Amino acid sequence: MTTGGSLRVYPLLRPLIFTLDAERAHRATIAALKWAPRRRPRAFPATLTTSVAGLGFPSPVGLAAGFDKDAEVPDAMLGLGFGFVEIGTLTPLPQAGNPKPRLFRLKQDRAVINRMGFNNRGQADALERLAKRDRSRGILGVNIGANKDSPDRIADYAAGVRAMAPVADYLTINISSPNTPGLRQLQDEGALRALLSAVGEARTVGGPPVFLKVAPDLGEGEPDQIVRVAMQHEVDAIIVANTTISRPPLQSRHASEAGGLSGEPLKGLALDALRKFRSASGGAMPLIAAGGIASADDAWDRIRAGASLVQIYSAMIYEGPGLARRIATGLAARLAEEGFASIAEAVGGER
Ligand SMILES: Cc1cc2nc3c(=O)[nH]c(=O)nc-3n(C[C@H](O)[C@H](O)[C@H](O)COP(=O)(O)O)c2cc1C
Repeated sequence: MTTGGSLRVYPLLRPLIFTLDAERAHRATIAALKWAPRRRPRAFPATLTTSVAGLGFPSPVGLAAGFDKDAEVPDAMLGLGFGFVEIGTLTPLPQAGNPKPRLFRLKQDRAVINRMGFNNRGQADALERLAKRDRSRGILGVNIGANKDSPDRIADYAAGVRAMAPVADYLTINISSPNTPGLRQLQDEGALRALLSAVGEARTVGGPPVFLKVAPDLGEGEPDQIVRVAMQHEVDAIIVANTTISRPPLQSRHASEAGGLSGEPLKGLALDALRKFRSASGGAMPLIAAGGIASADDAWDRIRAGASLVQIYSAMIYEGPGLARRIATGLAARLAEEGFASIAEAVGGER
């Protein structure tokens, strides 16, 4: 069966996958991807090539962190048509995460709530796999976090930078998960300065660029503050955003589960947050959009609002693994229609 054929059967497989609880379905998907034949990605339209932080992306549509936490299937995902893949969040030590159930599909809302709590096998485990990887297969970002019980969370991030830099095309400092109590406080100005100073010391000349991933639930003035501190500490890009702890109106029975909400109901919030970061940075800091992106139109709106790249996760659960390729194809068509020669030309041109 060709990749195209296997992608087209997703609408038929979905009801079957949805009979499994969400976490089992996810494990089954990763297992299937591990066994699927490896393919080199088909080429993307040349207009989609874009450069951010010195990296050449063949398509601006990436896989967001959390799908492949332990770096088990990055190349299978690149083969499905992602322009880049972010693995993690990885913490220095393995940890089990929160008790199950901790992942919920909100089908009527085309959303997900998760309170996984950084379940992962730790950095050493992923490092071993990634060290053997053929890096010419595509851009791999490594998203790092702190262990829940760490006595010094900032030291965990510095350790993550040192450990994972050799296998990463970029590193993401994730301080925006709502599922590790107190983690988001690292977005506060003083804590962020201390964190980014420690990260700066851990970086080496010629090492990978460092991105910062923020929450969509920020108060007045916080985006300006974060951008200022990030620029002072040579952060290379900001990912806007992680899941939300807010609860816009929802239909599904799982609506009141605790955790971070993603997918369709996050779309407006994430776009608003992106606009705030764009106006705070005036285009001087590259931005990467995530949150509720489910179509080429959604991706286009983020690019026009200031994103150089986009990432998807939740919509893939509803639309299937071919979504990244469909969004990329749609973006290339949109560029042509609007008379742009490249993504870079279109970034931030809204209004
Ligand atoms: C099940 C699940 C697990 C996630 N785990 C992580 C994670 O470990 N680290 C992280 O930075 N973001 C994590 N995220 C957040 C996503 O990377 C993304 O920022 C968010 O889901 C918004 O995008 P979406 O609406 O396209 O899903 C997770 C999201 C989901 C749904």
